[in-house]
Amino acid sequence: MASAQETQAVPGISRREFLYYIWAASIAVFSAETLGLIIWFAIPRIRAGEFGGVFNLGGDELPEVNAVPLNNSVGRFWLVNLDSDQPNERMYPAPDETRISGVAAIYKVCTHLGCIYAWNQASNRFECPCHGSKYRLDGRRIQSPAPRTLDRFKLTLTMADGTVLTSDADESGFWLPIPIPDGQQVASIAIDTGDRKDGIIQDLLQDIMNVN
Ligand code: FES
Repeated sequence: MASAQETQAVPGISRREFLYYIWAASIAVFSAETLGLIIWFAIPRIRAGEFGGVFNLGGDELPEVNAVPLNNSVGRFWLVNLDSDQPNERMYPAPDETRISGVAAIYKVCTHLGCIYAWNQASNRFECPCHGSKYRLDGRRIQSPAPRTLDRFKLTLTMADGTVLTSDADESGFWLPIPIPDGQQVASIAIDTGDRKDGIIQDLLQDIMNVN
């Protein structure tokens, strides 16, 4: 049982006042912790050049049209330069598409169960080692079990004349390639790996044309 001596531990302060101060101190400590957590979450901790941040590449790093993609392992993306109107073994038009043209940055993680897929030089496509999904140069599925096109990051292109172009999204929010205006040179490319959009769901290319 609390004795009168305990409740009068601080001379001149009643038990009620003592409990009030304890309660107020607890609230103050809790508030300070909450504020600290809010500030901790609000301060950006991802810097440029780290995954989750912006990667800046020179225009000279952009692959040629429909060439082998550029691998950026730190940024976890493939940089591609597409034009389905200049078809080759890597990039070719499908019957249900309009022209696909421009620069895109493709996330390196398979849309099936998250394995890291790779570019296969022999077959000229992306292939996932885990369950065999295959993708065209632009990330569209050739073979499943992947459920959708490969995801993409938002891009900003700065042209040699200073013009700045940023990714447009389609009706589902998916980042479209940025077409390069005729006669223009790309001076620099910024890839925002913090702004990724899920790929769209389209028919498998092996089901609608003669590829496998
Ligand atoms: S994780 Fe790539 S096919 Fe399953």
